[in-house]
Amino acid sequence: MCFQMMMCIQNRQEPDKTRGLLAGIVMAWTLRSLPSLSEEQFAQWGKLFEERTGIQIVFQQKPWLESQIFARMRELGFERYDDYFAFVSTGIAGKLEWALLADKVAVKETSFFRHRESIEYVRRYLQQKIYQQTLSGSFDVWSVGCSTGEEPYSLAMAVNDCFELASLNSYYGITGMDISATALATARKAQYNKRRMELAKPEEIKRYFIQRADGSYEVVSKIRERVCFTQTNIINAKQLPDVKVDVIFCQNLLVYFRRWLRRDLLNALVDRLKPGGLLVLGLGEVVDWEHPNIQRTADDYVQAYLRVEPI
Ligand SMILES: C[S@@+](CC[C@H](N)C(=O)[O-])C[C@H]1O[C@@H](n2cnc3c(N)ncnc32)[C@H](O)[C@@H]1O
Repeated sequence: MCFQMMMCIQNRQEPDKTRGLLAGIVMAWTLRSLPSLSEEQFAQWGKLFEERTGIQIVFQQKPWLESQIFARMRELGFERYDDYFAFVSTGIAGKLEWALLADKVAVKETSFFRHRESIEYVRRYLQQKIYQQTLSGSFDVWSVGCSTGEEPYSLAMAVNDCFELASLNSYYGITGMDISATALATARKAQYNKRRMELAKPEEIKRYFIQRADGSYEVVSKIRERVCFTQTNIINAKQLPDVKVDVIFCQNLLVYFRRWLRRDLLNALVDRLKPGGLLVLGLGEVVDWEHPNIQRTADDYVQAYLRVEPI
């Protein structure tokens, strides 16, 4: 008997005894449907996730991890965690399955102008460069761990404002990077529901979005044209394009990584900054990182660093 059918029967007015029996069956079904990972299995899965994505899964997330893994197992007809683990860890089919599972497990929460202060900081940084005429060539920005695209589009909007206001026709480009193929597919579509835009100002919505017939909002093409997306696993810093950029924006990603990995990644990001380039992190995401080419900027509400040359 399927779960829904049992619930239907249970919802009718059954005598107490029958209801008790059905409740027992439902509970047994539920327990059977989500078996617990043993400590050893949890450690094994945790190690796999961390090795491949950098994401550290803590013990409090065990029930959630079980539900994510088991949902995939049920779809594929696996009954035992160990069999599914063996499948995911080997072969080409395993690689494809791994990508789907990692996608499910990565937290992708984001919104337009999520941390307004940081976006405004980038705006002021660019305005100063325009004012001092220190822009050299194109203005390039990376959004690392860009999820479904709201962050890189917000950055593109702020950058576009600066150039339009200064009546400059300068070239700029924003690159959004993420490990998740589904997040990037959403990002490329650039269509969002109103909830994602709660932190955008009305004038920004008016200037940069078109409302669609279904009520969702689409980012205007002049912004979309400036933003490109690439699937990147940031723990392989070597995979990062060997170019120098003006701004690297990396928020709400490093928190999932161990401290040593955060530091390694940050060191790799510094190498990709132009001299005088700006690195913007989430506030409080890194506390004990130092680098000879990096100077923290004086701002209590933004965690930003400038690339400087050692004296
Ligand atoms: C919580 S979202 C943050 C989105 C955005 N930066 C923000 O602050 O609103 C974290 C994103 O990092 C991505 N991510 C996790 N591990 C990654 C990795 N190893 N390489 C690249 N992206 C990763 C996830 O897929 C997810 O989209």
